[in-house]
Amino acid sequence: MASANVYPPSSEFASRAYVQGMDEYRALYRTAAERPEEFWGELAEKELFWFEKWSHVFEWHPPFAKWFVGGKTNVSYNCLDRHLATHRKNKVAILWEGEPGDQRQISYQELHRLVCRFANVLKGRGLKAGDRAVIYMGMVPELPVALLACARLGVTHSVVFGGFSAEALKARIQDLEAQVVITGDGSWRRGKEVRLKDAVDEALIECPSVKDVIVLQRTGSAIAMKEGRDHWWHDLDQGASEVCPAEELDSEHPLYVLYTSGTTGKPKGIVHTTAGYLLQVTATMKWVFDLRDEDTYWCTADIGWVTGHSYIVYGPLSAGATTMMYEGAPDFPQPDRFWRLIEKYRVNIFYTSPTAIRSFIRQGDQWPNAHDLSSLRLLGSVGEPINPAAWEWYYKVIGKERCPIVDTWWQTETGAIMISAMPGAVPLKPGSGSLPQPGILCDVVDLMGKPVGDNAEGFLVIKRPWPSIARTLWRDPDRYRQQYWERIEGVYMTGDAARRDEDGYYWILGRVDDVMNVSGHRLSTMEIESALVRHPAVAEAAVVGKPHEITGQAVACFVTLKKGNWNHHELGEELRKWVAHEIGSFAKPEQIRFTDSLPKTRSGKIMRRLLREIVTSNTVAGDVTTLEDLSVVTRLSAQHDED
Ligand code: WTA
Repeated sequence: MASANVYPPSSEFASRAYVQGMDEYRALYRTAAERPEEFWGELAEKELFWFEKWSHVFEWHPPFAKWFVGGKTNVSYNCLDRHLATHRKNKVAILWEGEPGDQRQISYQELHRLVCRFANVLKGRGLKAGDRAVIYMGMVPELPVALLACARLGVTHSVVFGGFSAEALKARIQDLEAQVVITGDGSWRRGKEVRLKDAVDEALIECPSVKDVIVLQRTGSAIAMKEGRDHWWHDLDQGASEVCPAEELDSEHPLYVLYTSGTTGKPKGIVHTTAGYLLQVTATMKWVFDLRDEDTYWCTADIGWVTGHSYIVYGPLSAGATTMMYEGAPDFPQPDRFWRLIEKYRVNIFYTSPTAIRSFIRQGDQWPNAHDLSSLRLLGSVGEPINPAAWEWYYKVIGKERCPIVDTWWQTETGAIMISAMPGAVPLKPGSGSLPQPGILCDVVDLMGKPVGDNAEGFLVIKRPWPSIARTLWRDPDRYRQQYWERIEGVYMTGDAARRDEDGYYWILGRVDDVMNVSGHRLSTMEIESALVRHPAVAEAAVVGKPHEITGQAVACFVTLKKGNWNHHELGEELRKWVAHEIGSFAKPEQIRFTDSLPKTRSGKIMRRLLREIVTSNTVAGDVTTLEDLSVVTRLSAQHDED
């Protein structure tokens, strides 16, 4: 696991960096740890605009935290209005390229205009602070416009990734009781149209809370429009006023809910609020991405996931960056699309996932080598552990041994980056996220909460709340307490295993719960199992993550069938499609294995550990196997697996 190579920052990078050298990093870290209220209070005054100052920085009624109590601010104001009185007024805020090659460059001033107009559209539909909007769109500039318009009014938004199916969309709309859905006719992906509006129509059959659907025209294909409910964005926008003052919202006003997979079949609605969230995403833009005003910054995530919320929209715009967005697939029309974009727009900071990096490696060096990547000065990685070999490739072939790589560890729940090098300060070790950010007091402990010490494996925990921590789960504070704060008494349990080395560097070893990480997307084993047992042929299902060379993990399913004469090959295919239909195509199992019975403990718990061993050690040809007998392994292993 440990890598021999250590890469200190070059003096050239360090001399211009936001945080220069280990002493500066340590001083920041120490102040934040020893005098947190002073540290965050000063930062909040410096980095954010306030309508009204807070009365105190921090309130902690375990496990519930509040930050900047009594303060009034607005995220949209911080991302837009405050830049308009500066040199950034005509700076490009969003640099966008569609998959077909169309381009847009939207200045801060223009973005402000678009957001105000759309906020007035929402107001015109009767929406106000505290209402909920579900947003289901492709990666087009109107997506951040919709987010910022909601934030302007205090309408809590929930973005549902465009790859989720109608079923998954429906469950989220229902849970939130959203009043409005903002969507598009479709979106382009690998030359094909993702038919967003069709999925919305299917979802809304059972969503009585939704009064209005606002539809952006992107692909121009034919869609159904329901009279009275569905409206074209461009129709409503016509004549909308460009004046829309930002609401003066409480620091703790819920900015958004983002659903993520947990350890049960039901996704968790992670709630992020206003001021603390914005402060920490803004600060990490500088500490981690070392953002300078002249940079072109590109995070390749989708805004449907937390990375896009924090590091395409809110962090970069609050920090006054030029943030780039690309609509489509990395390999369309050819595997060099990303390198082409970096060359064309002279991208300086590039932030992507290990899965993407591993698939670039497989496609071959000729693709990046055919492009001028000399504008790059900093690279980033997020979403899953990056293996040292992929790190070295990224460093050499993309960064030409000039660009530091920030391996950023964080989660939907943490809101902002928790562990990452500050690139002008911290020497890099490939495969390690390195050191915690200021204010983040991590440790590696056993189940009793006892620190395991250097180089031992244990649970990664955070000992004190930070400004961007998720405040609760939507309408489920008990589950928030149980999931994060009670498994190990009194600390935030991340769900990841880790090891800390003798230099204090953290090495993330992956999830310790029933959450899989496929291409950096979080998937719950239980959610897929529940989807499988809804199929009429399936009696029982168990799902585990199987190591995968490119995507980190892949979904492997063990299925027992109801009585009947099944064609296993056909049924396997059908079940894979079924999961895509129930959840989304990114959750499609790689492997379905039929078995007579599932290995269980005597108390009836499925022995997933055993199944993980089976899928890890045993290579099965093809995607689907015919019936296998797991009863033997069950008998052999059962006695070791009792609680
Ligand atoms: C994993 C994505 C290793 C981890 C921002 C975490 C990582 C989960 C890294 C959160 C990293 C994320 N190194 N593992 N740099 N970043 N993870 O909520 O298991 O989609 O718990 O947030 O991804 O995934 P989520």
